[in-house]
Formats: sequence, C-alpha cells, structure tokens
Amino acid sequence: MLAGRRIILGITGGVAAFKSAYLARRFVEAGALVRTIMTRSATEFLGPQTLAAITGTPPAFEYFGEDEVSPHTEMAAWADAIVIAPATAATLSRLAAGASDDLLVGTVLAFSGPVLVAPAMHTAMWEHPAPRRNVAALESDGVHIVGPATGALAGGDEGPGRMAEPEEIMAALGLVLGAGTMAGWRVLVTAGGTREPIDPVRYVGNRSSGKMGNAIAVEAADRGADVVLVTTMAAPSHSRIRAIGVETADEMAAAVWEEAAKADVAVLAAAVADFRPAHPRESKVRRADGIPDLELTNTPDILAGVAALQPRPFLVGFAAETGAATGAAAKAIAKDVDLLVANDVTAAGSGFGTETNAVAVFGRDGAFEEWPTMSKAAVAARLWDRIVALRSP
Ligand code: CTP
Repeated sequence: MLAGRRIILGITGGVAAFKSAYLARRFVEAGALVRTIMTRSATEFLGPQTLAAITGTPPAFEYFGEDEVSPHTEMAAWADAIVIAPATAATLSRLAAGASDDLLVGTVLAFSGPVLVAPAMHTAMWEHPAPRRNVAALESDGVHIVGPATGALAGGDEGPGRMAEPEEIMAALGLVLGAGTMAGWRVLVTAGGTREPIDPVRYVGNRSSGKMGNAIAVEAADRGADVVLVTTMAAPSHSRIRAIGVETADEMAAAVWEEAAKADVAVLAAAVADFRPAHPRESKVRRADGIPDLELTNTPDILAGVAALQPRPFLVGFAAETGAATGAAAKAIAKDVDLLVANDVTAAGSGFGTETNAVAVFGRDGAFEEWPTMSKAAVAARLWDRIVALRSP
C-alpha cells in the first residue's frame, strides 16, 4: 500500500522521536519515498544524520537557508501524505491555529492531501483541555489522529500519552491512502509463465517469475478489491485473493474466459506461450529414440478472447519486449486494450525474476508514459492509481 508513495515525515521535540527513526525505516522498507522535516527541538532527541542515512535525504529544518526558494510549497507539491510523529502539544497547537512560522506547519498548510498526526506527551499534559481542544479542531479540519496509546512514559510515568507504535501508524496511513477505495471491485489478474508439455517430464516455458502479477493482485486486494489470480506460480496468501492454479495456456484460457465475464478489471500480466508442442507425448522421450521432431501449434490468444467479451472488463495487457518498447503503441491499438504495460525484459533491473521493473504505459488514446525503474510493488500501486483514475466518472 505504501510502495511508491511520497511521504513527508515530520518529527517534533519529544522523547518518542527515537521511534521516528524506526518509523522512517519501515516506510522505506515498504517501498515509500521519504523526506523528513524536523523542528529544532526534535534534534535534541534524534540525530539528523540518522534520518539522512535511513531515508537517503537530509532532513529539512527551516524556510531559510534551504536551496529551494519556497521549500514548504515544493515539499507540499511533492508529497502524497504528511505524517507527524511524534506531535508535541506545542505542534498540535500551532497546527490547529495554522501558525506557519515553522517549515513543518507551513508545509501542512500548503498541502491538500492527507495528514496523519500521532500526538505524544505526558498524561498530565494530554489530559489538559488545550491539547484535547486542538486535536478536536484538527479532526474537524480532516486531519487523521492516531493514538496516543497508554503505557510507559518518559521519567517512569505511566498512562495515556505514549506515541502510537510505528506499525500502528503504518497501518493507519495505509487506510488513509486508499485501502478500501476499490471495495466492491472484481479484479482478475494473471501471473507467471505457462508451461507447455513436450512429454510428462519436459515443457516449453519462459522465465516469468509471477512477481509482477502477484504485486498487482496484492495491491488491488489491499485496496479492498476481490481478486481472482490465475497463475502458474505460488500465489501470495491474502484474504481477498482467490488463486486458481494453472499450467498451460489452454488451462489459463479456460479459467480466464470463465472469470473475465464477471470482472470489472482484467490485468493480464502472465507470459503466455504463443506456441505449444502439437502432440505432447504420453511417455518420456528417450535419448535412444533420437532427436525428436517438435511440431508446434498456436495457443489460444487469451487477451483477444477477453477483448471480444460484451460487455467486457477494463482490460490491461502486458507486452514483454526485447529492446525499446517502440512497437508497443501500435500493439495497444491492435490488441484493443485500455492500457498496455510494456517492459524491456532484457534491460537491467527490469523484466523476469527481478524485484524491480521499468515500464512504459500506453493508453488506447495514444497517451504514453515512461516510468522510472521502481519496485514491482510501486509499479503495481501506480498502475492501480491510473486504472482507478481512468475508470472513475
Ligand atoms: N497473451 C495472451 N495469450 C497468448 C499470448 C499472450 O493473452 N497466447 C497476452 C499476455 O498475457 C500479454 C499480452 O498478451 O498481456 C501480450 O503478450 P506479448 O507476448 O507481448 O504479445 P504478442 O502479441 O505475442 O506479441 P509478440 O509478437 O511481440 O510476441
């Protein structure tokens, strides 16, 4: 859910700032791009170098002295979400009042996306009406509040006021960033490469690992869709993914054509063999029998079968290319897909078996975007963002 998302993590001056380093690390592990803003007092509790090392970018502190002419608007334009953890009583007060005299609050004011705030302070402070009033004002402005939890506090005290744990903040951000936005959608995904038997032992296959299709299925399920995954590989376990295991193009075609009629969106990421042995042997071909003739025949064009359905799902095809994806625009039209995702399977960091992918996406209207090399989870997130935008009225 967080893969490829651009998150600003704001850190203010409380002891819980020691957990913010771990939170930043978890965001990065989840594939997010993270920039941090520290208030001056936050630096009393956490070293800026720690955040720089974890996120790859030094924290920003103030308006002046940064390279940017207008760092708050530049950062606000960059971000998909702002998370402030920990948020002290003073920061809650400045946020509620819109006091933009520090970079963090200024960035929040310039930002129109989701803001998540994790308050942390001593129980006695938390129970004072002022922070409660400020939290209520922030909630009515649409800010999401997570925590505080009850537990051990600095100085040996106990009670409510402890910052929510990083995992809880991650989960809350996942919800805010779109879990549930595809609730009720029926999604069909294909993954993996088909295997076309020569004999009971051998097959004609390809190098597809199924990772891209799996990432697409998981992202849709995380967003609330009900997903059917037709795959030749091991399927990820997820409560909203129903996997149908297949091996050959014929088996995949039967499963896909059955399920596609019920789907709102079909993403056909599988690498399907175009040819199969025409007469697979019943028993193992022996060396002593000499070199066998391998007569090949066509497999069904699964995608064409889905494109011909009336009504048909929103259809996304994949094109595995060797070399630049120059033919892909024509392919998108010829195959009558709504989107075509093309990748150069021979490029470094792209294609079969890698954790990352570099793709170009073509629309039926000729629109074309080249995306940088990203994790497959990030490609999946961006692809669903595109599909959701195209399908929304
Ligand atoms: N596909 C399919 N049925 C097949 C072969 C491919 O449905 N028998 C689907 C793939 O799942 C993918 C898309 O078609 O979504 C494009 O696959 P690709 O192999 O690039 O297309 P081809 O038309 O076979 O193009 P090429 O001649 O470049 O191999």
